[in-house]
Amino acid sequence: MSWDPQQYARFSGQRLRPALDLIARIPIEYPKTVVDLGCGTGNVTRVLRERWPRAKVTGIDGSPQMLAEARKLEEGLVWEQCELAAWTPTEQFDLVFSNAALHWLDGHPVLFARLCRNVAAGGVLAVQMPRNFGAPSHTLMHELALSPPWREALAGSLRPQPVLAPDAYYDLLAPQARSLDIWESEYLQILEGENPVAEWTKGTWLAPMLAALSPPARVAFEAEYRRLVAQAYPRRPDGKTLFPFRRLFIVAGL
Ligand SMILES: C[S@@+](CC[C@H](N)C(=O)[O-])C[C@H]1O[C@@H](n2cnc3c(N)ncnc32)[C@H](O)[C@@H]1O
Repeated sequence: MSWDPQQYARFSGQRLRPALDLIARIPIEYPKTVVDLGCGTGNVTRVLRERWPRAKVTGIDGSPQMLAEARKLEEGLVWEQCELAAWTPTEQFDLVFSNAALHWLDGHPVLFARLCRNVAAGGVLAVQMPRNFGAPSHTLMHELALSPPWREALAGSLRPQPVLAPDAYYDLLAPQARSLDIWESEYLQILEGENPVAEWTKGTWLAPMLAALSPPARVAFEAEYRRLVAQAYPRRPDGKTLFPFRRLFIVAGL
């Protein structure tokens, strides 16, 4: 999928908050090496660097557009372009971190087993992923994609919900973890502007669907999606729109 850094950055405050909440729970004082998987434009990588200034911090992402933005950040961070499904580092890291990225990969039992092997003894795996796929922002998109005008073009772009239930991650990680901290938070996001929920998903889950359509079909699909989402998330009298958003957090000491 092609990422648009500007569209993604439109809600940077709301997107940064869960990363900060995750970082606050990481029980490691002096990691020598930190890797940020799916680092995007590097906003969170920079926070990791500030939190652990002595560590070598590497940001890895598959998107050249996102990494081009990341590379504009200050010196001292290492950036690598790499498809995460094929990421096989030669070293282990004291902290393997990922914020809002691993839900783009399938096969989490295999993926998480592999990521644990990338953590050095005494290190930490820390992950945050959205688990909001049952919310109207997402279900409306899927229902629309399966409706007759678009089904043929879009059925191939639909992925099953990739993130497992919290207890499934417990079962995956508990046999090898020294410590486990797993929780969910639902943020009541207060958004501003015109149809902000549609603008939110346009920066993420909607993008591959729009990319799969011809230009006229894309315009029609987006217009219909925006109409449905505006109904599901009405603007309040004070001009704000509420977008509850659930996220899953995992901190495993290994
Ligand atoms: C929603 S953004 C999150 C960026 C950053 N972690 C943050 O919190 O701001 C997801 C990032 O994961 C990257 N990504 C998704 N799937 C990937 C994959 N299979 N391989 C490499 N990067 C991937 C995307 O390129 C994108 O930059």
